[in-house]
Amino acid sequence: MHRGNLKFLILCVGIFPLLLTVYNIGKCNLTEDEDPDYRREVSSHIVNEFDASVGFQPRVAQSYNHVKGNRPVNYEEIECVINGDYSVEGRKEGNEVYMPFSFIQNYFEVYGSIETSDGYERFSFHHSYQDDFPTGPQPRYSPSGVFMSFDLYSVEDRNRVKCVSGIEGVPISTQWERKGHYYPIQIAQYGLSHYSKHLSQPRSKVKILEDGEQTELSDWLLPDRKSEIRSRMDDNTDNGVVEFKTATNLKNPGITKSANEKILLTLSMDIMFINNGSVTVLLQTGDGNLFRIHYILSDNIIKLEGKDLYYGIGSNMKRKWIHLTRQVMVDFQKGLTLQYSKNRSMKMKSAARIAAICVRGHGIMDNVSLSFHAHKDLFLDAANYFVRHQDSKGGWPVKVTRKLIPEVMELEPGWYSAMGQGQAISLLVRAYVASKNNTYLEAAGKALDIFDIPSSKGGVLAKFLNSFDWYEEYPTTPSSFVLNGFIYSLIGLYDLKQMATSPVSEKAAELYNNGMRTLKAMLPMFDSGTGTFYDLRHITAGLAPNRARWDYHKVHIKQLYLLVQLDSDPLFKDTLQRWKGYMKGNIAPHN
Ligand SMILES: *[C@@H]1O[C@H](CO)[C@@H](O)[C@H](O)[C@H]1NC(C)=O
Ligand SMILES: *[C@@H]1O[C@H](CO)[C@@H](O)[C@H](O)[C@H]1NC(C)=O
Ligand SMILES: *[C@@H]1O[C@H](CO)[C@@H](O)[C@H](O)[C@H]1NC(C)=O
Ligand SMILES: *[C@@H]1O[C@H](CO)[C@@H](O)[C@H](O)[C@H]1NC(C)=O
Ligand SMILES: *[C@@H]1O[C@H](CO)[C@@H](O)[C@H](O)[C@H]1NC(C)=O
Repeated sequence: MHRGNLKFLILCVGIFPLLLTVYNIGKCNLTEDEDPDYRREVSSHIVNEFDASVGFQPRVAQSYNHVKGNRPVNYEEIECVINGDYSVEGRKEGNEVYMPFSFIQNYFEVYGSIETSDGYERFSFHHSYQDDFPTGPQPRYSPSGVFMSFDLYSVEDRNRVKCVSGIEGVPISTQWERKGHYYPIQIAQYGLSHYSKHLSQPRSKVKILEDGEQTELSDWLLPDRKSEIRSRMDDNTDNGVVEFKTATNLKNPGITKSANEKILLTLSMDIMFINNGSVTVLLQTGDGNLFRIHYILSDNIIKLEGKDLYYGIGSNMKRKWIHLTRQVMVDFQKGLTLQYSKNRSMKMKSAARIAAICVRGHGIMDNVSLSFHAHKDLFLDAANYFVRHQDSKGGWPVKVTRKLIPEVMELEPGWYSAMGQGQAISLLVRAYVASKNNTYLEAAGKALDIFDIPSSKGGVLAKFLNSFDWYEEYPTTPSSFVLNGFIYSLIGLYDLKQMATSPVSEKAAELYNNGMRTLKAMLPMFDSGTGTFYDLRHITAGLAPNRARWDYHKVHIKQLYLLVQLDSDPLFKDTLQRWKGYMKGNIAPHN
């Protein structure tokens, strides 16, 4: 059937709401690669709906009359035979034929819904489910600025984030491994999103609960006669701090400061435990239940027991200053998900408030505050993770197996990702900008070495036709050439070449220039004429092409928006326009 005719049918279809069945495919925001579960959900959805239309039994033709405007409309049922294979029930009105949108939607992978926003019912048709692009001029990209549109992301809220570790201060991913692992790409994206929010959101209101100087110690309630609290000077600075001493036992209520805070839900404090101890946030949920989140000196990441949730902040943290920053509601929700992960019907508790903060054990604290957000702390937590865990090759290995295509393209634990390296570099460069601490820039420089090591030798460098350097998101053999991951790695190289000094800047520039030469040669290979390919498995492994679903196509477009700013080659501008057009159903001309 010719696409042109079908387009016409789709346009006519709104006249017969009776024929329509409307589906909403959940929109998903995606950034890090890739969520196979989502893909499965979408495709099984399509198959189910498709089956429903196949079961049609032709009935005896029947005529209907009704009035549209002042004009009488006559239509009758008509059997529509699809490629001679099966039938779908349609409607015939004069010489026009209408086919059910439920059929059209699945057959052509298009989207539609009846909308009544202004009280007038109309059918809204979309060629893709993702076409909300910025229309005005783009903010100028800069290695010290907002990273793409990451200020809109909330990495920690994703389902595949188990929780934010109290030990490392970064998210733990359950993607590809249920029990969880530290996934460099996810951690870098967490950092980049908080950096971007730090720049784009207004300064947060901060409520100081204790600064060791101006606050009243009498606000802290002592649980028993043996407990003590007093102000003193820090040993090394002339900074006022508060020393506390109470039982470490978690059954002891601890030294408590009450709060009644519904909005400023990020806790931040400097604390040093002299013996064992803990910090507890007492939460009251909308239904009046009390819930406790304990931050304890333990290496257990997260544990829930009834209404007590425990986050380990490391067993070896005695006698060290800890700068603890926790998004209390994120910790709370991740704890609930732990309990109810097998129960999809579990609804999140209604809004909660922070009722009190307690400390136990013997320790010193300072700068205890509640704020709306503390993005700077969070992106530095992520940058510090990369500094602490960079290996001797300058990389951040992924510790789980990745089966890009089972038995064809698989990676054993310990692989590096050029996208992981590149996004970590983008984050480290920004951490340097924000802190002027050279450690971050040095770590970013060391991260370049992996780009020279071939995929076959445990690095990320692939060669297309033995002559084009490509940095692999998944360094498989045969090569996979995943487009979005390659471009993210180039953005990291760009950031570093701009911000580093010699010789790191030259090294980054060389890798960047080689990569851009490759991208200009290979970008057209990802153009399918109606959309884009996610990777080049059809070329390297002789498999069916892997069409990029619309969310990934949109990632490609967002990346082109950025590339247009970095490089004046008209290839990027022209490709951007064409790829945007695909989302509205424009297709490349045929012969
Ligand atoms: C997805 O991103 C859009 C902005 O692009 C945001 O408005 C929306 O809330 C996000 N949705 C989710 C589920 O994160
Ligand atoms: C501190 O006490 C908690 C229980 O309150 C315990 O789980 C943890 O192992 C203790 N940590 C250390 C370092 O002693
Ligand atoms: C799932 O959650 C709902 C709502 O909280 C609850 O009523 C139900 O009993 C739970 N089911 C299981 C199997 O835990
Ligand atoms: C508390 O914050 C002040 C101001 O930022 C800082 O000078 C001080 O060192 C902090 N206290 C501790 C114990 O880190
Ligand atoms: C710079 O950052 C590193 C890594 O987080 C940290 O160990 C070091 O203390 C910082 N240096 C300064 C001067 O703040």
